[in-house]
Amino acid sequence: MTAENRIHQLRAELDQHNYRYYVLDEPSVPDAEYDRLFNALKALEAENPHLVTPDSPTQRVGGTALAAFDQVRHAVPMLSLGNAFEEADLREFGRRVTEGLDLPSADLLDDGAAVDYSCEPKLDGLAVSLLYRDGQLVQGATRGDGTTGEDISTNVRTIRNVPLKLQGSGWPDELEVRGEVFMSKAGFERLNAAQAEAGGKTFANPRNAAAGSLRQLDSKITANRPLEFCCYGVGQTSAPVASSHIDTLEQLKAWGLPISRELRHAAGIEECLAYYHDIGERRNALPYEIDGVVFKVNSLASQRELGFRAREPRWAIAHKFPAMEELTEVLDVEFQVGRTGAVTPVARLRPVKVAGVTVSNATLHNMDEIARLDVHVGDTVIIRRAGDVIPQVMQVVLDRRPTDARAVLIPSQCPVCGSPVERTQLVKRSKGKATVSEGAVYRCVGRLSCAAQLKQAIIHYVSRRAMDIDGIGEKSVEQLVDEGLIRSPADLYTLTYEQIVGLEGFADVSSNKLLDAIKASQRPTLARFIYALGIPDVGEETAKVLARSLGSLARVQAALPQVLTYLPDIGLEVAHEIHNFFEAEHNREVIAQLLDSGMHLQEEGELAAEFAASTTLAGLIGKLDIPSVGPTGADKLVAKLGSLEAIIAADGIDLRQALSAKPADAVRTFFQSEENQQLAYAIEAQLLDFGMHWSSEKKTAEGLPLAGQTWVLTGSLERMSRDIAKEHLEGLGAKVAGSVSSKTHCVVAGPGAGSKLTKANELGLKVLDEDQFIGFLAGHGMGV
Ligand code: IVH
Repeated sequence: MTAENRIHQLRAELDQHNYRYYVLDEPSVPDAEYDRLFNALKALEAENPHLVTPDSPTQRVGGTALAAFDQVRHAVPMLSLGNAFEEADLREFGRRVTEGLDLPSADLLDDGAAVDYSCEPKLDGLAVSLLYRDGQLVQGATRGDGTTGEDISTNVRTIRNVPLKLQGSGWPDELEVRGEVFMSKAGFERLNAAQAEAGGKTFANPRNAAAGSLRQLDSKITANRPLEFCCYGVGQTSAPVASSHIDTLEQLKAWGLPISRELRHAAGIEECLAYYHDIGERRNALPYEIDGVVFKVNSLASQRELGFRAREPRWAIAHKFPAMEELTEVLDVEFQVGRTGAVTPVARLRPVKVAGVTVSNATLHNMDEIARLDVHVGDTVIIRRAGDVIPQVMQVVLDRRPTDARAVLIPSQCPVCGSPVERTQLVKRSKGKATVSEGAVYRCVGRLSCAAQLKQAIIHYVSRRAMDIDGIGEKSVEQLVDEGLIRSPADLYTLTYEQIVGLEGFADVSSNKLLDAIKASQRPTLARFIYALGIPDVGEETAKVLARSLGSLARVQAALPQVLTYLPDIGLEVAHEIHNFFEAEHNREVIAQLLDSGMHLQEEGELAAEFAASTTLAGLIGKLDIPSVGPTGADKLVAKLGSLEAIIAADGIDLRQALSAKPADAVRTFFQSEENQQLAYAIEAQLLDFGMHWSSEKKTAEGLPLAGQTWVLTGSLERMSRDIAKEHLEGLGAKVAGSVSSKTHCVVAGPGAGSKLTKANELGLKVLDEDQFIGFLAGHGMGV
């Protein structure tokens, strides 16, 4: 096949995939296959530059930057729409339509004779016009003032779902289509994240992002923005396309133009209203933002009959949804203190309704965000409540800043306890060096002496996924702290009946219940206990990893950061957080008190085999992060010198036998430092102390009694929560699955067990009732 034929074939194939993907929403090949075809085309075109045509799928990359956009006069003006905000407005529109068409009023009509409307979402982007001549895209223009717009041809060509040439046949020689260029919510988030990362400008909403991206003089920038197009009508055409609006759009779709998948017919205004409510309910779930829906009289003959009033068609209307953005004023900025002491600025706002909900506060996240937004007290700001997301301050309206606006400063003392507030340091560790920079977060250094941190710490400690102490809510925690009855989580265990019964909302029964619940929490699994401590960056999963891998609190407390990084999913930063937490004197005191209060941790004792087997001496060398020494270098060192002592003692000549000059010198320099030697020995000693052996052989989790087994819990357990049962099983090495299969090893069935039990019996699986299960656990040293 000639290169030219192959190029044509590849383009046809890519066009077809694009059409299936963007217009029909039915991807036909995996992305990788598409990329392969695309790259093949690019390569062929590079070899044969004379065969490159403007409609090739490779030509969406943008061209040379313009000095200014040319003007384009619209042959048919681009009009705007009248708005309906209330149902009554829409009914009024319907009445005008029936009157204008000389039909009997709606209530005199049979259903079947009602006016046929098209319903479409009103996308929140910018209107553009695309001109196709002989099926080729020749021009793209903005709406401008409706009569004259700007020539953005190079930019629209970069939008992936704008066809560069039409498909099929039968299109008019000249076809101007109109539609909205917009950015999906996901595209917007991605773009903003990338902009923020690069220190660039972020956009307040997808609409602004779409506008800013489309009106770039440098189309190469547009090419990298996630813009999309949706067609909602035609402008000038050399021949009619169809006799109704919906048929027109369906025809455009067949020619390869993307139209809305929400396009529907409605017979009469009541059905239009039903469409409005249906889309309104799904608004948050749609992948793009809409500000309403658009209803149009479907018959083009009727549209002509109705005509226009001023600059609005009498045959169409936009029915708007409540706005997601509003203007309001920043009355004050207050600072809240969280569990880890982070001091977070919160804007107190003049209450304003946004999309039906009254908003009077918005988080400002941190001081960097305040600086980015340049928020002052007294400013008028744009508040946005997208979907179910908490309200955000998007932008300051600088024109409206009053002369007495006040800059926001971080307090130097904690607003709750008066302790100093310090800026966090970001420590970046690489190549054996730690570089410190300023973080965005400020912290109150008061820890548990700060009532705000203490309250949050206790609320976290008693929460369901932590120590699961029932019968104590946020209100009671506040009271206990405010009355000085509790100064650390350990004080929970010394609370007396008299102290509790004196609290608001507590009577005899509830007080005893709380005391029982506190007592019952004294046999937690190690993982729960670690999670409950509230170590920064240690969630449930990390707590489980620590407990499972290290097996005892003593080891977790003593673990060096470099040793912690041997564990799955623990990076150096988190490792340092954990280490620092256990190093801090006041944390050690609280832990000691907790253990003294009768706490009995269900430790798993055995070190997880996966951890024990994962250490090698070369791995240890790697952890030291010696400059220029990678994994291969570490392997070579160990192979040549055998032990840590030998490596530390080696002179330049020995080292150069194992490594090339640069890394050899780096190793020597590194170990000339006494501190580094100590560190290496300490890591080695700890690894060995934790029961590790230098090994190259791979061991599995065989150490544990239920390793390799899958268990299923079903029905309700009465003497133990399901979470606990699951933890026990996992502690013994089992996997706990949600459904029964022939691979299931055992099913624990409490009262009320249903189909899973039936299936287990059908498959002849081992089934334990709750008593048997508890007996089984007891046999493995696990109490209830
Ligand atoms: S029809 C003569 N349909 O809303 C009718 N407009 O307020 C022209 N828009 O400038 C517009 N989705 O940017 C129409 N499905 C839709 C629309 C839509 C969004 C925008 C468009 C237009 C503005 C009119």
